[in-house]
This record gives sequence, C-alpha cells and structure tokens, in this order.
Amino acid sequence: MVNLHTSIGKFQFNNPLMNASGVHCMTAAELDEVAQSPAGTLVTKSGTLEARAGNPEPRYAGLALGSINSMGLPNLGYQYYLDYAVAFQAAHPDQPIFLSIAGTGPADYQQMAEAIQASAFTGLTEFNLSCPNVPGKPQIAYDLDTTARILDDLFKVFKKPAGIKLPPFFDLAQFDAMADLLNRYPLTFINSINSLGNGLAIDPATDTALIRPKGGFGGIGGAYAKPIALANVRAFRERLRPDIAIIGTGGVTSGRDVYELILCGASLVSLGTVLQKEGLPAFARLTGELEAEMTAKGYDAIPDFKGALKTL
Ligand code: SIN
Repeated sequence: MVNLHTSIGKFQFNNPLMNASGVHCMTAAELDEVAQSPAGTLVTKSGTLEARAGNPEPRYAGLALGSINSMGLPNLGYQYYLDYAVAFQAAHPDQPIFLSIAGTGPADYQQMAEAIQASAFTGLTEFNLSCPNVPGKPQIAYDLDTTARILDDLFKVFKKPAGIKLPPFFDLAQFDAMADLLNRYPLTFINSINSLGNGLAIDPATDTALIRPKGGFGGIGGAYAKPIALANVRAFRERLRPDIAIIGTGGVTSGRDVYELILCGASLVSLGTVLQKEGLPAFARLTGELEAEMTAKGYDAIPDFKGALKTL
C-alpha cells in the first residue's frame, strides 16, 4: 500500500487530488459531493463581489483532447462560498478547504480580502488572477505591475494562508520575472496553470466557432495543456521559495499525468476537464492509477518523488 499523504504549509491532505475551481463547485451540493469523494480537498468556484450569470451559452465544449470554455465567472457571489467554507470547516475540522475568489478589477481583491480576513474562515484562500474569459478584462497576472499592486494592497490586510492562481507562461524570462515578484510576498501556495487562454475551436460541419462568447475564443483545457502545465510547475518549483507550495493543474487524464505533475514539484493536483467529462468517479480512477504508478516505480510516499524530475 502506498501512502498518498501530502501537505501545504500546516495543512494536511490524505490524497493529492482535488477539483479545479470551476468544475463541480458552483453550489453547496456539488461541493459536498467533492468532499465526500476520494479527493483530498476541494475548492469553490471563484467567487466575485456580486453573483454573476456568466457568458451566454454555449460556453463550454468538449474537444477530442480536452475542452474549450468561456464561462465568464458564473458564480453565486463570494459571500456564498465564504459562508459555505466557514460552515464546512466547522463540520469537518480535519478536512482543509480552499476558497477561491476573483476580481473583475484590482480593487475587488482588497475588498474581498478584508471580508475574508474579518471572517471565521481559517482555510486556504486562492486569489484567481488568471481568468481569461471576462469580456474586456485581460488576465491580470500577465501584467506584472498590476499584479504587484494587487498583492501589495492585499497583503496589507490579509494575514491568512493565501495563494494565487496563475495563467500559463511561455518564456523563461516570464518565469524569472513572475517568480521574483511572487517571492516578495507571504504566499503559502500558487496554483499553476489556469486554462490556455483564448484558443479557438471550430465545428467542421458548419465552419462555426464551437462556443458563443468572445467570437469563439476560450480557455483550452485537458490533454492539450499537459506539457505547458508540466513546464510551468517545474519552472516555478525551480524559482520559488521552498515554502511556497504548488498546486499543479492542467492536462490530467491518467494517474501517470498526476505522477508527472508531482515529479515536477506539485504538492496537490487539481482536476478540471477530466472531472467535467467523467464526473466524480475520476477521483477513484486516478487515485488507483497513481498508486499503481508509484508501486511500479518503487515509491511508497509522495515526498519520495515530489520534484525529483531528472534531466539529461
Ligand atoms: C470562467 O469562469 O470563465 C473560468 C474561470 C477561470 O478560468 O479562471
């Protein structure tokens, strides 16, 4: 029997798998189902200051090797998720939970940070700086100055365990610059990566974009994203302070994919498209496949191979 225990800061998890924010986490009922699955933890949908209906449908489409989405942050408002998280931790004191929030502008983050700081929530808060799908709003973390301004303001008021969700980066200079910036802040974790922003998928029968919002542009997830996710986790693991943990997100369809994200340095691995396509049984399947991979490689526990990628 292998041991799947992992940790982030002072938080302990008995399985490295969790949902990715946006999948199976819109309502209390969905969150409860993830909590009752084999997943080691759960994250809420990114909540905004006010509830949002999101973008017009169709706004998600399955693709041969993944998915495209332009959901546009539909959510019930951050207060709904904060209330859920506070009640959840009271009922499950040994099960950590992540609260995700997203601003539609820089000022939103500080306002929500103040409210979470003042609340009874003691879990982990993910500040999503990478949503590619709000029309007219760029992905914040591609702008280093704005990111720094948000984090400067935020950490003046926020003293609880915090992380940020990042978009994919594609150049070593971008990794260097973003890691230099992040290392200045008391972050507990990062989540890397959000979807590959602004891809396009076309229906061959009608020559029409598959989704309606933004002329068909949307975030790409699933197997298409795997090499980019591996590279981002690896690049940030090599550059960030050791006390900043990484949640690896992107491209998981097998236990081997989970194993590889951990090999690149992830402490937890979140499931997006695969959870959307397969539903909750994905957690049991991938747990079994991860255990089989670890056994085949002769590893008993996650720390035995976390970050142990070899290079030529
Ligand atoms: C969305 O709601 O559009 C997805 C959220 C995200 O990618 O951050």
